[in-house]
Amino acid sequence: MRVFAVFVACEASRPVTTEVASGAWVLPLADGRPCRRWQSAAVITSPMPRSTWFRSAVVYQIYPRSFADGDGDGIGDLRGIIDHLDHLAELGVDVIWLSPIYRSPHDDNGYDISDYEDIDPLFGTLADFDELLSKVHARGMKLVMDLVVNHTSDEHPWFVESRSSRENPRRDWYWWRPARQGTTAGEPGAEPTNWGSFFSGPAWELDPVTGEYYLHLFSRKQPDLNWEQPDVRAAVYEMMRWWLARGVDGFRMDVINMISKDTSLPDGIVREGALYGDGRRHYFCGPRIHEFVHEMHLEVFAGCERELITVGEMPGVTVDDARLFTDPQRAELDMVFQFEHVVIDHGVSKWDVQPFDLRKLKASLGRWQAELADIGWNSLYWNNHDQPRVVSRFGDDGVHRVDSAKLLATVLHLHRGTPYVYQGEEIGMTNAPFATVADQHDIEAINHYHEAVGVGADPEVVMRGIRRSGRDNARTPMQWDAGTHAGFTTGVPWLAVNPNHVEINAAAARADPDSVFHHYRRLIELRHREPVVADGDFTMLLADHPTVYAFTRRLEDVELLVLANFSSGAVDVQLSDDLDGGAIAAWSASEIVLRSGVRSSSGHPFTLGPWEARVHRRVVGATA
Ligand code: NOJ
Repeated sequence: MRVFAVFVACEASRPVTTEVASGAWVLPLADGRPCRRWQSAAVITSPMPRSTWFRSAVVYQIYPRSFADGDGDGIGDLRGIIDHLDHLAELGVDVIWLSPIYRSPHDDNGYDISDYEDIDPLFGTLADFDELLSKVHARGMKLVMDLVVNHTSDEHPWFVESRSSRENPRRDWYWWRPARQGTTAGEPGAEPTNWGSFFSGPAWELDPVTGEYYLHLFSRKQPDLNWEQPDVRAAVYEMMRWWLARGVDGFRMDVINMISKDTSLPDGIVREGALYGDGRRHYFCGPRIHEFVHEMHLEVFAGCERELITVGEMPGVTVDDARLFTDPQRAELDMVFQFEHVVIDHGVSKWDVQPFDLRKLKASLGRWQAELADIGWNSLYWNNHDQPRVVSRFGDDGVHRVDSAKLLATVLHLHRGTPYVYQGEEIGMTNAPFATVADQHDIEAINHYHEAVGVGADPEVVMRGIRRSGRDNARTPMQWDAGTHAGFTTGVPWLAVNPNHVEINAAAARADPDSVFHHYRRLIELRHREPVVADGDFTMLLADHPTVYAFTRRLEDVELLVLANFSSGAVDVQLSDDLDGGAIAAWSASEIVLRSGVRSSSGHPFTLGPWEARVHRRVVGATA
């Protein structure tokens, strides 16, 4: 049994929660002095009380730069978001997650933060933020901030100090290392490890002032923080409490499974054809990751009685680790973003896009459903600001765009877990027709292009990968209407709007009861209304079928059957492969609570038309 105590100390401004070890009830104050005078103390036994309200919630992600521009400078901002809150309220979402709006040099569009406690002037002011937050709350929604603490910007004062001299007290707030033994700093191969950065090139940058290298898993303007240093962790927790005190409702934590690294920093394996070593096993879910995340929970969330949400973005996380992160008994996170299902079409790299195989998708998502059934919780997503548009990826962005977008939504939202909708997904936005690298703004794609072409790759082949997988596909401005620049801005947009906005836009979708938008609205309504959607168990059917996605959900005596045809031809679904005759008869007579796509004229109850999706409902034991 683990025992926690919540204290309010006379000398501390906030409640402090700590695990009580062998009667040691003396806690340090923020400045390190021990505090012995308590106004009150409450003892809680593990698990910490956590509400599971987020199981029936739907989260909407806003990428502020691309959502709506309120001041005509071509870049989305907080005023633009405030002006469009009714779109989200009408959709019915419960939570808004804002990609970073903090002060930043924007080397990686705000994922490089130079001040965690201020708003970037591009987006507005803290007063605008407070107004947004109160208007979100007034509409019954919550607001979640992006928390980017694996790294800061190189312009953050912490890093400016850290790089100023080897003796600076903040030197070890980041990962500084001398050149590899036997080499001279600056020569190729002198980097302390052979790791490549996610944004091409080596993961180490030589700083000429002190003659040492610093680690940056992402761009050279995103130095990695050293979480081994307790003062780093304390500063991050303090900043998180500051945002919670301001009223935010939780955090989406950027690449949070990279904060613990193998401190011996070993070289990675160099794969055939690769320019750098793959260091991921040395910093994905490193040795102290669960300790750090649990500590964060205790330091930031444990004493807080409000309904919050915490979701950790975790590239490469295994389902076994996800069970640990999301097991409420362990008090770490509510859910994680795993990546397995969004790499199923990757070959040797994300740029090497392979044909989509529905069986692989079902095998992956089905396994996560099964493994997190008894412990933990899934997040469900197709899209975000790093992924190409799902309707262009797993659907059909041509003649069947509307039906395939609805089908994808139905499949995702009927899984067990908390669904995330990325801006524009609710109107079926597609990938963009980028012609050349000059149309790209994303540092990842631009660096990749130059590195690959630099070592002899065919520029057109490289562009093909960028068109299929590039992040700017998700970042073209939100398509509000058919007018100039899709109603996103009165100025010149920072990234060109997709020309298909004349057909695909929010105004048209909201006006058409049969649109993708209203389908999402109905799905969200269904989740709110039917407990089986949030809490029911999940059983995959027809796992080997190449084009049909089928599963059931069950909670007490209510059962749903979801059928989806991922193809443009009609298909007879043979449920007898997985269900007995009685169940099939009951399903053929059951109510259909949601249906989209082309209906087959065959007369057979389980013939699905092109891109048809259905949700059947029955009460088990009841006669039809
Ligand atoms: C993951 C974010 O989603 C991505 O946009 C960003 O580039 C990296 N983390 C680095 O912060």
